[in-house]
Amino acid sequence: MDKVTVLFTPDNVAVQVEPGTSLLQAAGLAGISLVSSCGGDGTCGRCLVKVEDGHVRVAETGNLSKKAKQSGLVLACQSFVESNVVIGIPSMSRLTEHQVLLDENQLMEEDIGTDEGFFFRPLCRVVELTLSPPTLAENVADWERLQTALRNVIDCSDIRISLPVLRRLPELLRTDDWRVTVIVAQMNDCAEVVDIAAGHVQKELNLYGLAIDIGTTTVAINLIDLKSGLPVGQKGSYNRQASFGDDVISRIIHASEASGGLPELQSAVISTINDLVAELLQLSNIDAHDVRMVTVAGNTTMTHLFLGLSPKYIRLEPYIPLAASTPAVRASELGLNINPAAYVVCFPSVASYVGGDIVAGTLVTNLAQEERIILLIDIGTNGEMVLGNKDWLVTAACSAGPAFEGGGITFGMRAMKGAIDKIKVDPATFDVQVSTVGRCKAQGICGSGLINCLATLRAVGIIDRTGKLQTDLSTPRLRQGDDGWEFVLVYGNDTAHGRDIVITEHDIKNLMRAKAAVYAGIRSMLQAVQLTEDMIDCVLIAGGFGNCLNIRDAITIGLLPDLPTEKYRFIGNSSLKGARLALISQQAWQEAQLLGSKMTYLELSAGNEFMDEFMSALFLPHTDMTRFPSVTNLK
Ligand code: FES
Repeated sequence: MDKVTVLFTPDNVAVQVEPGTSLLQAAGLAGISLVSSCGGDGTCGRCLVKVEDGHVRVAETGNLSKKAKQSGLVLACQSFVESNVVIGIPSMSRLTEHQVLLDENQLMEEDIGTDEGFFFRPLCRVVELTLSPPTLAENVADWERLQTALRNVIDCSDIRISLPVLRRLPELLRTDDWRVTVIVAQMNDCAEVVDIAAGHVQKELNLYGLAIDIGTTTVAINLIDLKSGLPVGQKGSYNRQASFGDDVISRIIHASEASGGLPELQSAVISTINDLVAELLQLSNIDAHDVRMVTVAGNTTMTHLFLGLSPKYIRLEPYIPLAASTPAVRASELGLNINPAAYVVCFPSVASYVGGDIVAGTLVTNLAQEERIILLIDIGTNGEMVLGNKDWLVTAACSAGPAFEGGGITFGMRAMKGAIDKIKVDPATFDVQVSTVGRCKAQGICGSGLINCLATLRAVGIIDRTGKLQTDLSTPRLRQGDDGWEFVLVYGNDTAHGRDIVITEHDIKNLMRAKAAVYAGIRSMLQAVQLTEDMIDCVLIAGGFGNCLNIRDAITIGLLPDLPTEKYRFIGNSSLKGARLALISQQAWQEAQLLGSKMTYLELSAGNEFMDEFMSALFLPHTDMTRFPSVTNLK
């Protein structure tokens, strides 16, 4: 059958597709990423587009609200092209301008990552050597001669070389009287000569590395000068895999069940990285060929997908990943646009839901060297946590669901421009004032905004301890909507899309389940090691969500334990920091390998404790108010 044309506006980008192609797929082909939290199942209701001309077949199924329908919107994933069409994309449906948590200290010159007590010795470095020339009496072969000279410098007995470099060796050794400069990659107990130049030319040689944090939502990259350890630049963006669903489970399902799903997801993340790297290199005028080492930290599923490994069994009981530690691979094997022979190494995972990002965070916070008891927590779609000190480390993960990242919430969104991050409610009139990311008109509400919203609505008595809206209050903001009772946060005349932004009772329940899962995870871990909350000396909060979280709000709703706020510290993107530290310190890289095996993983679904704790936490802040003495007990 003849192909048809889909023209997207206002981008003015057209693609040719087979009739029957979904608008979501067509947008992907046109290079336009739409918000598609459910991965195209039709359940999230977020991939809204407008058919401006032509015919599409709209499936009866799909979570399309009455209001969206009345505005002429359709779900892109449930609409299939039948003729040439013109499709309008509203800004709220676009996956753009994501706030990515880069490493905020990254550009400080003195911060080269060794302040955690590790020596500066990058995984790839430049070494100048002067070899003794051979004689008739001392006639060791060229390669063995070079190995001997290198062993005196790099403290490694297993030294290798690739065939193409070996072929060039004899002439290079003799060009400048047996003086050469070699580039050596060294990981664990093995080193490899990756390049060689005649003479002592260390100053003229360039050598760079990339530290990459692959998150389910975002990807962040540091470009590092490996000769000095100093950062050159940083970039971040949303992970293009987001078109296949917001959380790791939808990605695993796509990778395991859709035909070609795994390569599709791998190429989505590789293209995200390649584009960011291209921008970084162009900005700093660096040749891609000079990038010769990459460290990657990500959760277990992200690491699998990045390497093209099947994540299928991660979600099937007994939840086993294909590999906890993965081999070093070449950039060319993954399609990364840097030196094709560059090594790419990934942080080891602890278990299916505690990945290399947590190992990197544990590394960079020096948790395994601490006398004090530390809780490290990274809250995203999974709440991942590590508890312990220099003597022991336990780790666990609980499924918080996508609510804190805006998923499953009527006007939930990520922390992009226009996301409400704070609200104020007048306790007498119930009028609402909001502040937004980027100080522009509100589009929706992000995770930290939702937590603040819940705490504020509870504080002024709009919701009770079970999360129920108090419908007898006298305010037009409380009303019946498509989905039951709702509270209007911003009226349509003040929003970016003209629709009222509301929080529904259903949204509140979703948020309460998410916060209960995180708190129950913390409690179950404490119980497993027979500690109480007050024995925690410090709580480190990692990740993008953590950074804009108000601790008092989080305690008020019972998401975090009721500890003095001084005990809490935000540590930013610790996954990226850990990847950078390992890139510039072999010692740190080796410590990361050990850390993975030192942590005891606690499977929360194995016993009843987690479920009991979860059920008790489904109140604001908790059924047992004695656990939250600082939270006023409102009626
Ligand atoms: Fe279309 Fe979720 S409803 S992607």
